[in-house]
Amino acid sequence: MPTKVEKDSITGHTTTGHEWDGLKELNRPLPKWWLYVMYATIVWAICWMVLYPSWPGIHGYFHGVLGYSQRDKVDADVAAVARQRAGSLDRIKVLSFDEIRKDPQLLAVAQTAGRITFANNCQPCHGAGGGGNPGYPALAAGNWLWGGTLPDIQQTVTHGIRSGDPDARQSQMPRFGADGILKPEEIQQVADYVATLFGIPAQGKDVSAGQKLFTENCAICHGDAGQGNREVGGPRLASRAHLYGSDRAAIVAQVTNPRMGVMPNWNARLDEATIKSVALYVHSLGGGE
Ligand code: HEC
Ligand code: HEC
Repeated sequence: MPTKVEKDSITGHTTTGHEWDGLKELNRPLPKWWLYVMYATIVWAICWMVLYPSWPGIHGYFHGVLGYSQRDKVDADVAAVARQRAGSLDRIKVLSFDEIRKDPQLLAVAQTAGRITFANNCQPCHGAGGGGNPGYPALAAGNWLWGGTLPDIQQTVTHGIRSGDPDARQSQMPRFGADGILKPEEIQQVADYVATLFGIPAQGKDVSAGQKLFTENCAICHGDAGQGNREVGGPRLASRAHLYGSDRAAIVAQVTNPRMGVMPNWNARLDEATIKSVALYVHSLGGGE
């Protein structure tokens, strides 16, 4: 093969001197910038391989000078989250409600734990968002039987109502009908009066006899004007939101044979931090005091 360097007359470049079947190769080296970029990437790659995990070996791999490992990093992140969470529950347990509420991050943890606990344990009775169900009070309405401050709610949830727990909230509406404390016609009279408190018009009926019976028998637990009495968990009768229904038949049924709803004591199933969290959640539903 002849090797003669010559100048190409068309392009003005020299040839390399290689020629195949009359085809000559122009001498056009790679641009300098391209070469330098390539050298730089090679240097970069070598540095990378030295610093970070790279070459596989028979019993493992080269870990790199920096000792970086994604698995270690994930493990460390997971451990940090777990530490933070355990720390949060411990702090929720020992801090006062005021202190928890002043710490937005801790409050967010408590709210989330409370929301989940509520959905799992409370919603079947109290309804989604604490909207209430017949016989199970609404918790979002602010129409509290026993009280709506955070310590009130904590106490109720911890020990329950008529739950059998020694510190449960207790109160017993007498069985006026079933035990013969009031005669059937007296029950009708007192029901006529209580119906007016519920907002059902008397329609010309004289309710003074019923009012007198109410003052003598009921006011002690339900308030003189049916406004309720939290000391004994006596519901507010002068409202439209009722536990057991808002018509006259519901009043007669309750006075005849009170149902005495039971709220479980959650200290048997939930730890203190979780109960405080669910109390914070319930308090935030709209009725908190
Ligand atoms: C088995 C049904 C049931 C479950 C489950 C239940 N409750 Fe109750 N709860 C009741 C009943 C019934 C009452 C009302 C008792 C009464 O008549 O005084 C009540 C009352 C309450 C009260 C008092 C309301 C007031 O007006 O003072 C609060 C607060 C409360 N529940 C919170 C909770 C929370 C939080 C949970 C979940 C951890 C829960 N409840 C789960 C049945 C239930
Ligand atoms: C010793 C206290 C006490 C006395 C006295 C009492 N109540 Fe009650 N009453 C309660 C309690 C506690 C409840 C809630 C009970 C429950 O969960 O079943 C209640 C519930 C009611 C309800 C249902 C309220 C609702 O929201 O659905 C009516 C109606 C009612 N009482 C009427 C009367 C009338 C009328 C009298 C008098 C004849 C009376 N009560 C006397 C304690 C009392």
